[in-house]
Amino acid sequence: MTVSIFPFTMVDYDEVIALWRSSEGIGLSDVDSPEGIAAYLARNPGLSFVARQDGRLAGAVLCGTDGRRGYLHHLAVASSYRRQGIGETLVERCLSGLKAQGYQKCHIFVYNGNVEGQVFWERVGWKLRTDLVIMSKDIAL
Ligand SMILES: CC(C)(COP(=O)(O)OP(=O)(O)OC[C@H]1O[C@@H](n2cnc3c(N)ncnc32)[C@H](O)[C@@H]1OP(=O)(O)O)[C@@H](O)C(=O)NCCC(=O)NCCS
Repeated sequence: MTVSIFPFTMVDYDEVIALWRSSEGIGLSDVDSPEGIAAYLARNPGLSFVARQDGRLAGAVLCGTDGRRGYLHHLAVASSYRRQGIGETLVERCLSGLKAQGYQKCHIFVYNGNVEGQVFWERVGWKLRTDLVIMSKDIAL
């Protein structure tokens, strides 16, 4: 069956959050609430996508920018749909959108323990940065 790619809208939210919750390698937090995702999609229109086969959700990805670089988050393909090229197709759609907006580089965050995820990213052409670490600070009041 053909898999089709659609823009990610809030109509997809309940199915997508269920997919993310069931996907190893995806870390969810307060910004993944309906309000948080609605704000993200509004701030980054046309860059995030879902994949569907016969109407059923097969995969999803968030993509946005900080005005300088692109970022992908929460790429997930449901286990029964993996290894059919859906993950790579979702990533390509995001990168095409970023390119069309003039962005020249895109970053992702991958958990250290997510070895399969890292293999996927390397196989689809992404380079591990050994010159960087991520540092974060909680600035909630
Ligand atoms: C990572 C993930 C999105 C890949 O989705 P997918 O649709 O299966 O990926 P694709 O079919 O497009 O794979 C493209 C290529 O990546 C490689 N690849 C993908 N998954 C792989 C795995 N588990 N082991 C080894 N190679 C893998 C293969 O080379 C594959 O091409 P091939 O099937 O022709 O050999 C999916 O496994 C997933 O949802 N994992 C859990 C969530 C996650 O880790 N997301 C990434 C967060 S940073």
